Amino acid sequence: MSTHGPSGILGMIAQLQDLERFKEQHWEGSFEDYLEIVRQRPDVTRNAWQRLYDLVLSFGSESYTEYRKPIIRYKFFDDPFDNGKDAVFGIDVHLMKLVNVLKSAALSFGPEKRVLLLHGPVGSAKSTIVRLFKKAVEWYSRQPDGALYTFEWHLPDGQVVPSPMHEEPLRLIPPEMRTQVVEELNKQVAAKAKYKIEVDGDLDPVSRFLFREGLKQVGGDWTQLITRIRVKRILLSERDRVGIGTFQPKDEKNQDSTELTGDINYRKIAELGSDSDPRAFNFDGEFCVANRGIIEFVEMLKLDVAFLYDLLGASQEHVIKPKKFAQTHIDEVIIGHTNEPEYRKLQSNDFMEALRDRTIKIDVPYITRWSQEARIYSRDFKRRVKKHIAPHTLEMAAMWAVLTRLEDPKKPNLTVLQKMKLYDGKTLPGFTEDNVKELRKTAIREGMEGISPRYVQDKISNALVRDADAPSLNAFMVLNELESGLKNHSLINDEEKKKRYRDLLGIVKKEYEDIVKNEVQKAIASDESAIQRLCGNYIDSVKAYTQKERVKNPFTGAYEEPDERLMRSVEEKIDIPPARKDDFRRELMNYIGALALDGKQFNYKMNDRLYKALELKMFEDQKDSIKLSSLVSQVIDPETQAKIDIVKQRLIDNFGYDDSSATDVLNFVASIFARGDAKESG
Ligand SMILES: Nc1ncnc2c1ncn2[C@@H]1O[C@H](COP(=O)(O)OP(=O)(O)O)[C@@H](O)[C@H]1O
Ligand SMILES: [Mg+2]
Repeated sequence: MSTHGPSGILGMIAQLQDLERFKEQHWEGSFEDYLEIVRQRPDVTRNAWQRLYDLVLSFGSESYTEYRKPIIRYKFFDDPFDNGKDAVFGIDVHLMKLVNVLKSAALSFGPEKRVLLLHGPVGSAKSTIVRLFKKAVEWYSRQPDGALYTFEWHLPDGQVVPSPMHEEPLRLIPPEMRTQVVEELNKQVAAKAKYKIEVDGDLDPVSRFLFREGLKQVGGDWTQLITRIRVKRILLSERDRVGIGTFQPKDEKNQDSTELTGDINYRKIAELGSDSDPRAFNFDGEFCVANRGIIEFVEMLKLDVAFLYDLLGASQEHVIKPKKFAQTHIDEVIIGHTNEPEYRKLQSNDFMEALRDRTIKIDVPYITRWSQEARIYSRDFKRRVKKHIAPHTLEMAAMWAVLTRLEDPKKPNLTVLQKMKLYDGKTLPGFTEDNVKELRKTAIREGMEGISPRYVQDKISNALVRDADAPSLNAFMVLNELESGLKNHSLINDEEKKKRYRDLLGIVKKEYEDIVKNEVQKAIASDESAIQRLCGNYIDSVKAYTQKERVKNPFTGAYEEPDERLMRSVEEKIDIPPARKDDFRRELMNYIGALALDGKQFNYKMNDRLYKALELKMFEDQKDSIKLSSLVSQVIDPETQAKIDIVKQRLIDNFGYDDSSATDVLNFVASIFARGDAKESG
């Protein structure tokens, strides 16, 4: 037994902890030590934009083509930090634009002086993207590659005063010598550095004050002053309010700009006896907190105009100007987001006027690719929910969500469902890739309107809870929930739109019906040995027919005419008209003959059309013997039940159902057939 108690948990923790790493993350040293670090790894001096860009790149990327254009998918957006929890799917083109802006900012081409504004409809992953950035910035500061440093003052009287904004230690180099010193540093690191070392801006007011006072005390000798400095590595953390800030406007009357830039501490003024002593200032404004990292502006356009100047100064000049206080340099990525309705409302507003050319707007639309949308829900629900989710359930919800976002096609020969499938990469006769690209181009508002993933997520959750006793969740539960939720959807009060969304649910239900009908048919027909037998009989007849021979009856040994009825009943399943039957049979025999010459034997799976025809024929034969429609009547004889159980087992084994969802789907398809039977006989 472990010496660390019965459970061994302490022992386990002892094993897991990484003391080396801890030591590295809590490194401390002199200014001179730090200079050595810079010489070895000049990247420690990168600014906030450079760090963010490198961080995104560090996870690698892959490229693919879409409409003949190369698209880069940055793996960063798979959320490697949290097991995919905040992964962003399906909008690679827009993420690519975002990364290009980061790149250009990292190279100091201008965007580093702007506010990034993510703009899109409600629930389009804007917050998710920013959350991912913030999480990543925290993580990166803990990695050897992402290390960054700050300093604190150790004053002769024993006081320790940290740089209140976690500033870069190189700012301690006196401004009048900086150019020369930094130039020399750059010379020394030229071979290693990805970016040129640059030391922008002044020290924060507290350090400036201590610098000035200290220099007096040591008779102007900077080399002596600098011995008061301890350089330390910093670990950024939103929770600890280091390097990561979030600003969320509260109600409009209550906004106070000190929340952004910090405030004078009146108690300290009394202590220090002067209101110009920078130590009487609280550097706890969000901009101060976020220095060296990233600040998020939630719903940026709800910001009071009073904040505008702070925001513009912060982005354009990299300084904040606290009220009644010295201006202070900052180094941080400023990223805001806004919902598209809000943006449109404010387009002609003064606030926007001032903001427009200082922001870089990045569109973050909804996903318009069905399979990508489905990834959201399978991430959210497949892994985390214990209950079985029937096949197609989440896919159908995603299909509807995407359909609500598409404009009706203007071409008369194209339905919105077909268009959706084209967008998802399916092919349709008569439509080339260029046509699809054209379709997308002409629908400019697509992806900016429609149902948000959040609505769908909420309704799936509701369905899970509502039918808590149901052993599995199926598509109808979800589609019904989506439908009933429309009644009191807070964002859609337009009746016409609601009707359209309902109609689209109808389209989805119909599509679902087709899918499961097909699956049940396949399950009924997928008795391999029976299909093989059927295929054998068919081929025997075809062979005899094409060679004008007779077929030997395996039971009686008598020679009989080829079984025309059997052949036609197979061929009709794939719409081969009587006039084409000879060609079809001859082609088939030629194919089989060619195979035989190669020493190969024909197998029905080699010919897709024949395979399909045989399956449908099998289904037809089996359907009657299985009497699926009797499921609806509840009274089933044991023999039928046994057959149904076999089909059910196939649904489970081959199509991903569990027992209860297979029963559901069989009942559903049975009801369709019962309807169909009634129609036929009626
Ligand atoms: N493209 C997408 N990829 C992955 N998840 C998405 C995507 N779009 C929306 N979501 C999901 O929808 C929900 C709402 O996203 P959120 O970031 O809060 O939206 P916004 O801030 O734009 O209103 C989140 O659960 C998010 O993961
Ligand atoms: Mg949001």
